Order: sequence, then structure tokens, then C-alpha cells
Amino acid sequence: MNGRHREMLDLVASAVKAPSGDNLQPWRFVLDGEARRIELELDAAKDASPMNAGQRMSRIACGAALENMLRAAERNGWCLELENQGAERACVRLEETAGRHHVADPVVDARASNRRFYEGGTVLAPTRVELLEASLPLAGLRTHWVFDRATVQAWAGIEGACFARMYGNASMRDAILGNIRWNVGPGQKNPEGLSPASLELNAVQKTAMKMMLGKPTWLLKAGGSLMAMSAFVKKLVRSSSGFCVIEAPDADADTDWLVGRCAQRAWLALTEAGLAAQPMMTLPVLENALCNGSEELRQVLDAGRIEALSSRFQALLPEWRGGRVGFVLRFGFAPPPTGRSGRLPLGKVIAWRGAKPVEAQETLVA
Ligand SMILES: Cc1cc2nc3c(=O)[nH]c(=O)nc-3n(C[C@H](O)[C@H](O)[C@H](O)COP(=O)(O)O)c2cc1C
Repeated sequence: MNGRHREMLDLVASAVKAPSGDNLQPWRFVLDGEARRIELELDAAKDASPMNAGQRMSRIACGAALENMLRAAERNGWCLELENQGAERACVRLEETAGRHHVADPVVDARASNRRFYEGGTVLAPTRVELLEASLPLAGLRTHWVFDRATVQAWAGIEGACFARMYGNASMRDAILGNIRWNVGPGQKNPEGLSPASLELNAVQKTAMKMMLGKPTWLLKAGGSLMAMSAFVKKLVRSSSGFCVIEAPDADADTDWLVGRCAQRAWLALTEAGLAAQPMMTLPVLENALCNGSEELRQVLDAGRIEALSSRFQALLPEWRGGRVGFVLRFGFAPPPTGRSGRLPLGKVIAWRGAKPVEAQETLVA
């Protein structure tokens, strides 16, 4: 395989390490060796869940994957031009390089969703500066950082209420539970979907969660499961040292990719600083369902209540400019996650335009 093909595959290998909703990896890469182009396309078939109504969460994931490619190229000294990026795809072009070697990126490898309870503690000033510097505004988006514990406590109540609302909806609850690969053992990596070990639950909690699948909401309410889960989430949030919010200026579909790029930048900066992080996306998911969900879903979600929760959340952020909540990440001090989710082999997400390199098949399988 020539150097150009190798570099293109390295870029894709970096892209697929990005996060995605329920680890469904809603992307496809079309590689053109002659033109040295990679098209990163949204694969709408991957996630048909109500949380992803209108494909917003998948576009965010694609944005994070694009950010990984741009970062990998920069680290390697490869010139990668972002030719265009729309709602459904982005296209990058690699300039001819002199066979420079790939440099590993331990930060991209270490980034993970860490769903443990964190240890509280304060993020010190030099780290705060590093985080702020790593999240310079990108095309009208803003990254808000919250480091004070009083605001974290206030957010916990809002997040608990959002969580109860999301899990109180049977279609969303069953979609999330259906994406957990319950049969995957602690040491194993699932190629897609969520690994049970990554959820950081004890055996009783896992069994209780498994049993929720397909049950009517009234039963879960009567049995106290929804309240218990909401209390658990509040506790998770309260254990954090802070949170970070990406504010999007509009609801345009191509802005979602930029949300993903900003979120990934923030998450990688947190990882580099040795901080654990976990997306807490119930509010953006509920707002998305109100915007893009089916008529039936919109009717059962209480729009007034969700809007009130969103206003309370935005009021926590003094520099909010009236935009939309794009992405929310909590962060703090914690050991690495107990379990990580795997990825599909590259061969499952790559297609070649024109001549496919002869050795590509073996490389992709390995
Ligand atoms: C758009 C989006 C929404 C997500 N929402 C949540 C969430 O609400 N809670 C959570 O624990 N993880 C959430 N995640 C994290 C994914 O579950 C995670 O990225 C995926 O399982 C792969 O695992 P990894 O991040 O450890 O590589 C989200 C990720 C993305 C990109």
C-alpha cells in the first residue's frame, strides 16, 4: 500500500475513535486514493432512535469524527484541507506528502465516556486556563466552562428532572436500553452499542435496568425505578468538579457538526488535563425531540416543562447569548472507566472510490 493510502487510513482510524450517541458510529468514509479525498458521510440508518430525531445526535458525532481527522493531520504535519462541510457530509483532501510517518495520539486514544462517580475537588487555575485556551470560539459557537460547585449543585436538580422526563418516555427508554449489549462480558469489547461495563453500575442496578426494557411507564413510576434513577443521576452530577456547555447560535443542521467539533475539542482538552468526562445530553435530546420528533412524541413530551428546564439551565451560565444548548459534558477527577466500548472494524465503515489498494483488505481486517 502506498504512503498516501496509509495516511488516509490513519486519518479514518483516528476519526472512528470519536464518541457517538449510544456508540452507534453513524458514519461512513468514502476514500478516493487518486484524488486523495476522504468523504465523511452521515449514515442515517445507524441510529433511528427518537433521541436522534432529525439525525441531530449523529451529526454531532460526525463533527467529532471530523475534528479527530483534522487533529491527526495537524499532529502528523500532513496538510489536510477541509474542502466543504454540510448537513450530511464533509470532504477533506490530503495534499501530497513525502511519506511522513504516523505519530500516535495518546489523548485521542485515552478519551472515553467515564460514567463513574467523580471525586469532587477543584480544578486549579492553570488547568482552567488550558481548557479555555483549547476551546477558542469556532464559527459563532461558544464553549462555556463552569468550575464552581454551587452551580454544579444547581445543575444537578435540572439534570435529574430532565433524566426522569427522558426515561419517563417509553420510546426513548426502550431505545436506550435496547442499545446496551447486555451479553458482553467485563473484559470484552463490543464492536458497537454500549458495553455494560462502561455504565459503571453494580449487579443489582444492572438487573433492574435490564428488567425495565418493554415495561410500561406507570409500572416503573409506581415501583420507584424512575425516581431512583433520577436520584442516581443527581448524585453523579454533584460528584463533578464542573461542566462544559457548547452553545450553538442556531438550529441549522450543519451547525450540529460544529457542535461536535467543539465538544470533541473540549473533551480532548479535558483528557489531556487528566480529567474524566461524561456527556449529559438529556436536555439537548429533549429539546431536539420537541423540534424534530414525531407528532406523537411531541405530544407526550411536556413542551412547557422542557422549555422551563432549559431556561433554568441557561440562567446558570452568565455569558449565555441566547443560543441553543448543543452539548453538555460533566468533568472531574476519577480513575479510568471500568469498561470501554469498542468500535466496528474499519472495513465496515470504509468504501473505496476507484481502485481499491490491493493490500487494503488485509490491513483493514487486521
Ligand atoms: C451526541 C452524543 C450524545 C451522547 N449522550 C450521552 C449521554 O447522554 N450519556 C452518556 O453517558 N454518554 C453519552 N454519549 C457518549 C457515548 O455513549 C459514547 O461516546 C459511546 O458509547 C462511545 O464510548 P466512548 O466515548 O467511551 O468512546 C454521547 C455521545 C454523543 C456523541
